[in-house]
Amino acid sequence: MSKAASAAVSEARQWARLMEMAALGAIGGGHPDDRGVNRPCLSALDRQARRLLIGWAQAIGCSVSVDPAANLFIRREGSDPTLAPVLTGSHMDSQPQGGRFDGIWGVVAGLEALEALHDAGVATRRPVELVAWTNEEGGRFRPGCTGSMSWAGHTPPAAFAEILDPDGIRYGDALAEQLRLEADLPRRPLGAAAGFPRPHAFVEAHIEQGPLLEAEGMDIGVVSGIQGSRWFTVTLAGESAHAGTAPLRGRRDAVQDMVRAVTALNALTADPTDTLRFTVGRVEVAPNTSNSVANRVSFTIDLRHPDAATLRAKGDAIEATIRQAVTTCEVSLVENFHAMPVSFDPMVTDAVAQAVAAEGLRHRPIPSGAFHDAQFVVPVAPTGMIFVPSRRGISHNPAEYSSPAQLAAGARVLVRTLLALAA
Ligand code: GLV
Ligand code: MN
Ligand code: MN
Repeated sequence: MSKAASAAVSEARQWARLMEMAALGAIGGGHPDDRGVNRPCLSALDRQARRLLIGWAQAIGCSVSVDPAANLFIRREGSDPTLAPVLTGSHMDSQPQGGRFDGIWGVVAGLEALEALHDAGVATRRPVELVAWTNEEGGRFRPGCTGSMSWAGHTPPAAFAEILDPDGIRYGDALAEQLRLEADLPRRPLGAAAGFPRPHAFVEAHIEQGPLLEAEGMDIGVVSGIQGSRWFTVTLAGESAHAGTAPLRGRRDAVQDMVRAVTALNALTADPTDTLRFTVGRVEVAPNTSNSVANRVSFTIDLRHPDAATLRAKGDAIEATIRQAVTTCEVSLVENFHAMPVSFDPMVTDAVAQAVAAEGLRHRPIPSGAFHDAQFVVPVAPTGMIFVPSRRGISHNPAEYSSPAQLAAGARVLVRTLLALAA
């Protein structure tokens, strides 16, 4: 039964669907394999992608529902509809300069798995549900994972309402607009509720986004867990002045203080083992003209480590480090994301490992350096992930690439894993 279903995975169909999705927000020219995607969450492009997915799912008899966080659920009924479903899925939004596979492959692979079960005529005892979580990337509205955090009861959705995108649009308004434009889709409550039990298990398929699987010639990563992440936004307030006339000595230059702060943070986070990851990825400068001293700088910090104590200690030291380093500006700091490291459940990781073995694929256990919605599902349901190789480890970049054959192998593993968990 598992063999028939996994053999029903179509490499060509899955690839064609990924490329159809990639056309929604396509960026870049050059070689087709270097073209990326910019598909912000809660945008018209996001809604087009969701409608495309819904059409494919309805064609094989699946039902659709949307929760108040705009998480989209697609359900293939089980022979016992009262049982807790097995859940799979990922996200459909991308980074502003994103690739064609981060997130969307986990959704398309989930649909490919449902389609393979359908084509093979396989019934599962438990329902199998596919979810597309809202705003995993945090590329438009920071932080990411707001859909899964809302669903999991980690953070109430109202806590995200005032987040602004770069155009000043409130997350709460964008969400309300999305729900209004999808008012024809059946609604479901957020998270577990009467008639909506906690999932029996959650398994997320995703590209690795790092170099290990390719470097070692592996087909599949059996993901062991996810490292922790903390995000901060730092604002330095100084005073604007004329670049030609204001003596250096009296200036309150926010850019110069940012340089001091980042230099001190580099020292704080220096790690000879290269395990602690520290990134300043976004800087906003005001007034942002070449002949004025900057009166305001706002920059983001993304800090990651697999060990909770290290992540806590280094993250907690950030504010004092900045205050000590700056010489003239006022400092304010907000922590806007906190995902502690997680280990996945052996029930799911064993099911993945057995599926990989049954497919005769080369595999290794692997920790995730990227965060994923799966991180927030861990407290709610037994959770695991399946990784496929990423070319040269490149991700969050239009050149992100995994081959049709690699992605089909991942989908076959997903089918077997879902079957084992839902049988
Ligand atoms: C997810 O996109 C991450 O930044 O890890
Ligand atoms: Mn992702
Ligand atoms: Mn991503």
